[in-house]
Parts: sequence; structure tokens; C-alpha cells
Amino acid sequence: MDKNEPIYFTRGNPATDALPIDDFRECADAIFKEEGRVLFQYGHYSGYGPLRQWIADWFGVAYEQVLLGNSSMEFLTFAAALFVEKGDTVFLENPSYDRAITAMKRVGATVVGIPLEHDGIDLQAFEAALQKSVPKLFYIVPDFQNPAGVTISIEKRQRIAELAREYGFLIVEDAPYRFLRYQGENPPAFRELVPEKTLHISSFSKIMSPGVRVGFLIGPKDIMPKLHKWSEDTYIHPALVTEGIVYEYCRRGLLEPNIESLKALYAPRMACMLQMLDKHLPGIDFIRPEGGFFLSLNLSDEINGRALQENAEKFGIVLSNGSGFFTDGQGDNFVRLPFCGLSPEEIEEGVIRLAKAIDHHRI
Ligand SMILES: Cc1ncc(COP(=O)(O)O)c(C=O)c1O
Repeated sequence: MDKNEPIYFTRGNPATDALPIDDFRECADAIFKEEGRVLFQYGHYSGYGPLRQWIADWFGVAYEQVLLGNSSMEFLTFAAALFVEKGDTVFLENPSYDRAITAMKRVGATVVGIPLEHDGIDLQAFEAALQKSVPKLFYIVPDFQNPAGVTISIEKRQRIAELAREYGFLIVEDAPYRFLRYQGENPPAFRELVPEKTLHISSFSKIMSPGVRVGFLIGPKDIMPKLHKWSEDTYIHPALVTEGIVYEYCRRGLLEPNIESLKALYAPRMACMLQMLDKHLPGIDFIRPEGGFFLSLNLSDEINGRALQENAEKFGIVLSNGSGFFTDGQGDNFVRLPFCGLSPEEIEEGVIRLAKAIDHHRI
């Protein structure tokens, strides 16, 4: 680590050293030989069939319930385009994934942010918001949320599932971090609690490689035809070449050991971040995640968060703009801290620098 270089607490990238490039080379060679005439030709609008089937078996769903796409971000735009019209309401957690907020705003949705607590959204605020307007979609990142690191408790999941049935809104469950749990057990997914009202979105970005851009959506049988058709009309079909490589990788049984080795790499990074925060920032409110890529700080009003973000580079760190994660311009005092792509030395040094920067911005 170069002491003169800034430490980037910005993007949630997987660790570059953990990308399984040699395995990809072998998988590409094998699958191109076997299936090259399929993968390099126009194909089916729902993606490469063998990978769809592999995912269907993995999740225990029917083949037609699986749509492949050029990663999960794409599906947020599909959901927005298909289910939301200008002026319709969409609920999101507040804070939420910034690109999801943008995707919903782009189609003219009225976005309503439901405050996030340490164990998921504030249910009272949620039910009060439902009395005012029933959303078309509730976009939610239930496991190790980006940006906050929060996982929704089972009780809150059950209540949200009940309300989805009662009011009829669709849950867009964005779950790319669900496989990366470093402690404890996963609560059931919305896909399991209320399958008829859930679009479950995930991808291989965090558990294999984001560069392959392979994501998948699992949804109820009655809604899927719309999504398959939307895929066809958008880009004929998603990119088959990388889907073929991902398929070969999965078929060889490499995915599960890769997830295990990522967990072994990332768990100590998260532990290091937590330990350093306890040591250098006692008294600051922060989320203690049990997996994923992020944790977050909620700084008190005694700190000028906006100035902190603007001046962070002077202290040798780069921070994301906290307000980008909020639906309503809040977020000056919200700090997202990704830990997976940083070495323990960078995390240690980064938190020391962050503590100095925060101290400097006390009002
Ligand atoms: C919650 C969430 N959804 C979607 C994405 C986009 O991921 P993908 O690479 O699958 O498009 C990300 C990426 O960081 C994310 O954090």
C-alpha cells in the first residue's frame, strides 16, 4: 500500500485478485469448442438455455420462470419500464441503491423512501405510506443492503409479504449479496415468502465476476411472459458468449467453492473494518452487517457531513456522495464503507484517516 495514495471508499467492487480468470480461460475454451456455433449465433431472447436450466434447478423453479439478462441492473430498467407509468408510486428503502432510484425516476415514478432501521424498514412508516398511495413496485435489497449493510429481519419480511398480498404491489427483491453471508443464517427470501408477488433479481457479479455481465430474474409464471417479451424487444437476446462461459463454470461445480473462498477472503475484511471502527470511531452509529460488501455510518448532527464528503481527499480518502442513496436529498451525514475490495492494511489505514477527517468536521 502506498501511503501517499488515497483510499477509495467508493465503489463496491469485488477483490480483483479473486477473479477466477484461469478457470474462465479453460471454461471458455471448452464451451466454445462444444457450443461455439450456438453461442456466437443469434439465440433465444431469454438467454442461453443450459444456463437457464441450471439456475432453475439451483433455485427449484420452472424453466420459464428464469430470465437471463446482461446482469441485474438491466432488470431494474425492465421492471421500471414494464410496471411503472409516469406518476405511479414506487417505494424504496431510504437509503437505497442509487442506480435503482435513478431507474425509477427516469420513467417518471414518484419515488417514496421508507426509512431504514438497523433491522429493515420502519414498518409504521411503511404502513402509513401505504394509506396514502399503493405503489406499483416496492424495490428492496433485503440482504446486506447496498448501501447500508442492513438485513431485514424475518418478522419484517413476513409483514411486508402480507402487505404485498393485501395491497397487490410487486416486490422487486434485488439480492446479489445473499450468497455472501459470513455469519449466521439467511432469513427466507421474499421469493420464498410471497412468490406470486416477487421478482427476484440476482447476478454472478459478486460471486464470480461483474465483467461477465450475467444476471438472472426469477418471477411468477403469470408475469414472466411480459418480461421475456420485453427482453426480445429490447435487445433480441442478452449476450450468449459470457453466459456460455458462466454455464461451463457452474457445470464444472466451480461456483460453490468460489463462493466459499470469497467468504473466506471477505469475512476477515469485514471483521477488520468493524474492529477498526470500534477502536477509532467509538460512539458513532454504524451498521454491523453479517455479510455482503458494505457497512454504513450515520453521523450525528454534530458533524458537518457535507463538508466531510467534499474535503475527504485532503485526508487521503475518497467517499461516495451520501445523498445519492436517498430519495429525498437527505444523506449528507450518511457514509457508505465498502470493505471487500480493500486489503486489511488499506482498511486499517482508511479508518484511521476517516476518523481524523470526522474529527476535523465536528461542529
Ligand atoms: C443492490 C444492487 N443491485 C444491482 C447491482 C448491479 O449489479 P450487476 O452487476 O448485477 O448489474 C448492484 C451493484 O453493485 C447492487 O449493489
